[in-house]
Amino acid sequence: MEKLKILLAVVFSVGTTSAASLGVVQTEGGGVQGQNIPLGLFRSVDVFKGIPFVAKPGTFEKAKPHPGWDGILKATKFATRCLQISMLQTSSFGSEDCLYLNIWVPHGRHVSSGLPVMIWFYGGGFVVGGSMGPNFLNNYLYSGQQIADKGEVIVVSVGYRVGPLGFLSTGDSRLPGNYGLWDQHAAIAWVNRNIRSFGGDPDNITLFGESAGGASVSFQTLSPHNKGLFKRAISQSGVAFCPWALNRNPSKFAEKVAENVGCPTDDRMVTCLKSTDARTLTMGAPRIELGSPDYPAVTDLLLSPVVDGDFLPDQPANLFHNAAEIDYLTGVNNMDGHLFSSKDIPSFNDKNKETPVEDVKRLLAAYTKEMGPTASEIAFAEYSSNWGPTPSQESIRRAAVDIGTDYIFLVPIQTAIYLHAANARSGSTYSYLMSEPSLLAGPGRPYHDWVGADHADDLQYVFGKPFTTPKAYGDRHRDLSGYIIAYWTNFARTGNPNKGNLKVPVTWPAFTSADQQFLEINAKMNESSTGRDMRQHFVRLWTSTLPSLASHAVADAQ
Ligand SMILES: *[C@@H]1O[C@H](CO)[C@@H](O)[C@H](O)[C@H]1NC(C)=O
Ligand SMILES: *[C@@H]1O[C@H](CO)[C@@H](O)[C@H](O)[C@H]1NC(C)=O
Repeated sequence: MEKLKILLAVVFSVGTTSAASLGVVQTEGGGVQGQNIPLGLFRSVDVFKGIPFVAKPGTFEKAKPHPGWDGILKATKFATRCLQISMLQTSSFGSEDCLYLNIWVPHGRHVSSGLPVMIWFYGGGFVVGGSMGPNFLNNYLYSGQQIADKGEVIVVSVGYRVGPLGFLSTGDSRLPGNYGLWDQHAAIAWVNRNIRSFGGDPDNITLFGESAGGASVSFQTLSPHNKGLFKRAISQSGVAFCPWALNRNPSKFAEKVAENVGCPTDDRMVTCLKSTDARTLTMGAPRIELGSPDYPAVTDLLLSPVVDGDFLPDQPANLFHNAAEIDYLTGVNNMDGHLFSSKDIPSFNDKNKETPVEDVKRLLAAYTKEMGPTASEIAFAEYSSNWGPTPSQESIRRAAVDIGTDYIFLVPIQTAIYLHAANARSGSTYSYLMSEPSLLAGPGRPYHDWVGADHADDLQYVFGKPFTTPKAYGDRHRDLSGYIIAYWTNFARTGNPNKGNLKVPVTWPAFTSADQQFLEINAKMNESSTGRDMRQHFVRLWTSTLPSLASHAVADAQ
């Protein structure tokens, strides 16, 4: 009886005292009411879903400020994602009215204030994606709850336009492009103006994103339009230099879209495109083909940002002075190219088939085709240098993965890290290599047992999925997720991933031009998990040896 009384007293006091919550928050557009989720004794998270940060945008126009609303906006449902093509590319879904953001605010015993803020940009090749991510049993991939709770930071995720509506460009002032990047910029500015009312510190804003989201973060750091709006940035597996991240021939691509939607490609094209309805335009993007070694799928990803003379006044390499005060953390998964090479080479994941050496050569020829006739032979000699006379299937397939990883991600990311460090004034620089084996690798599983961290494998750990779906993961994955959340949120708090509220397993050394150190991140990391000069030999191959062949080829032809 006495026990029961105590129990009831505890339950009763938890019920009445744990509800630290912001209640209705006043924003520039009006009041918003979210939902308070209790997480335990004296811990909770306020979640605001679907707050508009601009008005519904016009086709191929920059979004305008939201006119605001009367009364209190119920911010308890995710907004529809931006209009985009379906997985099978046979239909479209989503809405043009999609420029909304979501906010997670953690509280302890008291309502929070002055918290660091992290703004998430999703990936999806600039063609697909949504601020909440894929949903499995009401567990959204990009829920900010775990990061917010464990790292004591505010997490914001935002929608931005994708596909033709986000990025179609004629390469001139008629259709300048970059609408999706302007959406992201508008969201950053909104957070800067409003986040104090949610308990955030507008002087402590960090952007983070993966793949096209990582490249987006990179573009936002390089644009002169974000001066003073955020302090730090994290690019996971994507930067401005990735071959898919910048469209160098937008007008040719715009003509293809015009043909697909039945518009003329002469001087009537732009008027016609502007009067075409949004769903037709979305479906008018050229299909992303299932790849082959001669036409790798990644080369179809061309609905990307452009150098428009405004958001990006110049080539990315010439814009790093704009990031001189920004702390930058970026890195790559050690087999980021697996997803791509394994699709481009049909025999790759068929454990009963052999992958011919010829397919590796064809893949290299496709990736080096602008670098002169000898480029692919020189590159092949490097990637096969340790093969011996009779290479194993594993050697051949590993080379295909390395080629994809280096070309699509790792080498461009090293270029961005190097330029950031070289141009930094107060900004710090940190580099990582994530190497946790894929969950799909091993006997009886679809991937070969040597497959490491594939593209997008980092997402589940960053968003704490091993904690929210414990049965799908083991303790090692919870360890890894805890490490990554610690590094990421410490960095958001202080600009140094080692310093902040959470303990880290290994001290992450800064990257400098003189000492190019990086941290290898996996569940078993220890004091030996730091390295220098990541894949330097192959970085030189792609950034120096092969491009010099290209310029000789041009010179010879003239
Ligand atoms: C960010 O937050 C930290 C820790 O709360 C604080 O020391 C710092 O002054 C804040 N502002 C900036 C710009 O880092
Ligand atoms: C660190 O980890 C590596 C790889 O797992 C292992 O080989 C090495 O023995 C470990 N070193 C220490 C000091 O624990």
